[in-house]
Amino acid sequence: MRLRLPSKGWRMHIGKACWFLMKTELISANDEHCKEAVKAAVALLAAGEVVALPTETVYGLAGNAFDAAAVAKIFAAKERPSFDPLIVHIGRKADLARVALVPEDIQTLVEKLTNAFWPGPLTLVLPRHPDIPDLVTSGLETVAVRQSANKIFSAVVKELGQPLAAPSANRFGRISPTSATAVWDELQERIPLIVDGGACSQGLESTIIRMEAGEKRPTITILRPGPITKEMLQNFGKVERWKPRRDADAPAAPGMLESHYAPRTPLYLLGSPADFRPEPGKTYALMSYAGEGPFVEMHAWKAVEPLSPGNGKLPEAALRLFHIMRKLDACGADAIIVEPVSEVGLGVAIMDRLRRASTAVWRWAWFCRIPFAKRGFFF
Ligand code: TXA
Ligand code: MG
Repeated sequence: MRLRLPSKGWRMHIGKACWFLMKTELISANDEHCKEAVKAAVALLAAGEVVALPTETVYGLAGNAFDAAAVAKIFAAKERPSFDPLIVHIGRKADLARVALVPEDIQTLVEKLTNAFWPGPLTLVLPRHPDIPDLVTSGLETVAVRQSANKIFSAVVKELGQPLAAPSANRFGRISPTSATAVWDELQERIPLIVDGGACSQGLESTIIRMEAGEKRPTITILRPGPITKEMLQNFGKVERWKPRRDADAPAAPGMLESHYAPRTPLYLLGSPADFRPEPGKTYALMSYAGEGPFVEMHAWKAVEPLSPGNGKLPEAALRLFHIMRKLDACGADAIIVEPVSEVGLGVAIMDRLRRASTAVWRWAWFCRIPFAKRGFFF
């Protein structure tokens, strides 16, 4: 009897279905169980597996950065396109030389920045070391590197003795996870282990920068705003924000996709309360900055979630942003309305995530300065 193989399309479905055969373990890494959790994670990583680990920014899905097969598992579990490169996490500053080649003209700057912000939420884009597999950098000649300050992540990467490639532990395009439960919702049955290290202390992904030597001062280009703000970097050089060039063949940061961090419910970022014209029969939820003020009072919301209850502090808003986005996504409203935060300091990174999370056509309308009332709500 001739055995017929399923068609290519079916083989893809079967490939996807295989995830559902994987048992995902969730283990706590509280003080009592930290050593065991680290040991379990290191054993899996050493065997070429991937593991979700807490970092101070968001949870990461980690695999040995020198093991292309492990890195491929990261892309598969996340359904991430291979053109979107990963960040490599090192355990010690001295390991930078294993993954990147620091150009002589920015060596002093790199030293100053890493002394000031590592371990911590600053990612440096540098020429890559030839040992880094192509898959990690999506074929780019540069590699993004950081050292995480989370004690569990740090213990794992040091004990493994290899750098870890780790993107945020969510399915591609979805909201970054800031708790182990959020990772569970995203990747259960796709990965063998999630280490629960509690809520992340920053809540927003790292700042990503590129550096260039200059005649007087070096230039620091922010590719992705994050917890290390423009103001914090200004002591070290001239700071610029990277702007996408529509004519360029390849963007400087291939993962800086315009649409990202998206809830399933349409999300609209408003300039002012006057922009809001609810459609009859639709329900709306509000992401409020402080949980009080004109936005809160203007409508009978299905749900209201404050980013920074009472006092409107940006670090608290950053910490809660993705958690609140997930909560409102699950509340059953037809749309999520978001009150803007002031675009200073950490507010720049918060507004960056909110713009990317907002509904695509609506973003185009924002760009063209079309008032909300004239946009038609669900085009
Ligand atoms: O805080 C973080 O950075 C978290 C934690 C887990 O470390 N990681 C994270 O990774 O946010 P991910 O993959 O979600 O975002 C990494 C971003 C992507 O937008 C990617 O395009 C960009 O970094 N990136 C990676 N390598 C790059 C490179 N060589 N040049 C420019 N951008 C790069
Ligand atoms: Mg991500």
